[in-house]
Amino acid sequence: MHIPSHLAQTIVDPHAYAAGDPVDDAFRTIRANHPLAIAEPEGMEPFWVVGRHADIMEVERQPDVFHNGDKSTFLTLKENDGMVRFITGGEPNLIRSLVSVDGQEHKDLRAVVFPSVTPKAVRPMEEDIRAIAKQFVADMLERAPKCDFATDVAFLYPLRVIMTVLGVPQDDEAFMLKLTQELFSSGDPELNRDRKEVNPAEALDGLRRTMEELENYFGGVTEKFRANPTAHINSLIANATINGEFLNRRQLMGYYIIAATAGHDTTSNTTAGAMWALAERPHLLDEMQADPSKVAAFVEESIRWVVPVKHFMRSATRDIELAGQAIKAGDWMMLSYQSANRDEAVFVDPFDYRIDREPNRQIAFGYGQHVCLGQHLARMEMRILWEELLPHLKSVELAGTPRRTISNFVCGPKHVPIRFTLN
Ligand code: HEM
Repeated sequence: MHIPSHLAQTIVDPHAYAAGDPVDDAFRTIRANHPLAIAEPEGMEPFWVVGRHADIMEVERQPDVFHNGDKSTFLTLKENDGMVRFITGGEPNLIRSLVSVDGQEHKDLRAVVFPSVTPKAVRPMEEDIRAIAKQFVADMLERAPKCDFATDVAFLYPLRVIMTVLGVPQDDEAFMLKLTQELFSSGDPELNRDRKEVNPAEALDGLRRTMEELENYFGGVTEKFRANPTAHINSLIANATINGEFLNRRQLMGYYIIAATAGHDTTSNTTAGAMWALAERPHLLDEMQADPSKVAAFVEESIRWVVPVKHFMRSATRDIELAGQAIKAGDWMMLSYQSANRDEAVFVDPFDYRIDREPNRQIAFGYGQHVCLGQHLARMEMRILWEELLPHLKSVELAGTPRRTISNFVCGPKHVPIRFTLN
């Protein structure tokens, strides 16, 4: 019932995610030999590894049994868990956002933004988003014959899109990017707050300082939108009420932060990874130029391929049997989207990038009540970028070795150097 310790160590190791293959190899072995078993990496509370597609769906179908809010929603060291609970006055998550609440509070909070992000609601945004995509494509074409697609395009375009949807002025974008990267990449010396190797306590302290800065910033946002409400998402959050009361301070901050951060880093990582895949597979460019309707399948496969959100955690509210294993009340569970998106039981040739999967049953947006709120926006903005860019490209290839962020949570390629020629 226990996963061998070297495998348990690999699937939590930020450097293994940066390397890529070690994590995929570990999960392949886990799916084959230890499906649904306990990992006990050093310094962490033991947790069940839910690595099969079907098992993740089974867990996510039962949000009353598998809670988000009782324990940390992402992997954390015992030491940090204690500090977070100290800082928050007992709560396991530094940020009280949609992903860290359950039941009625989750339903009420989700309802604030949900109507603005349905497929029907995002369709009218297409024209504005296309205008943004055209700007970034024009900028990239000027850089020909070389650029770092990750830093020059993939990390900037989704940021501009989400900030436009939220109602954040362009002048504040650089600040938001920096804080998001600090929040998600506290272990990466290139991106974290102190720009150096830090120990877990220093990383947590960096996170706390980032949070303080975000709270100051968003305090001003609340004032601004309460004085002058608009249709922007930040205005919906600022003016939302539950049972006649405005959201409390932690709910407000959690909402702003998740919308701003989940809203671009995920999409940026996916876009960067898609270019990496394209640069290594020239036939994909030919195929999509011959038939642009294939761009949607290219986007879907890029989401499966990159899996920018590596995991979320749950904890059991009661004893329950899952896939033949006895889960006990209080047990911590890792839903590994990285593993489920390579599950041989669901995907033919899971380690190949294929745009002919019909349907593509990728589960990188999660499933069930907490399924990604921004999925339709994310798909649309990525499709538009490729529709605008691909017709200009005659060829594209890697011009160096791409590098991924050192992180085990929300991450992906941070540098994708490419060389390209234009039509
Ligand atoms: C490729 C892009 C993206 C991926 C792969 C992704 C992935 C995810 C995943 C795995 C979850 C948790 C689902 C679960 O627990 O079942 C999630 C939740 C969430 N995502 Fe995304 N996301 C993406 C883009 C976005 C964007 C663009 C936004 C904002 C507009 C967004 C906002 C959210 C929010 C608010 C939640 C919390 C939902 C809840 O707990 O009810 N995401 N996302």
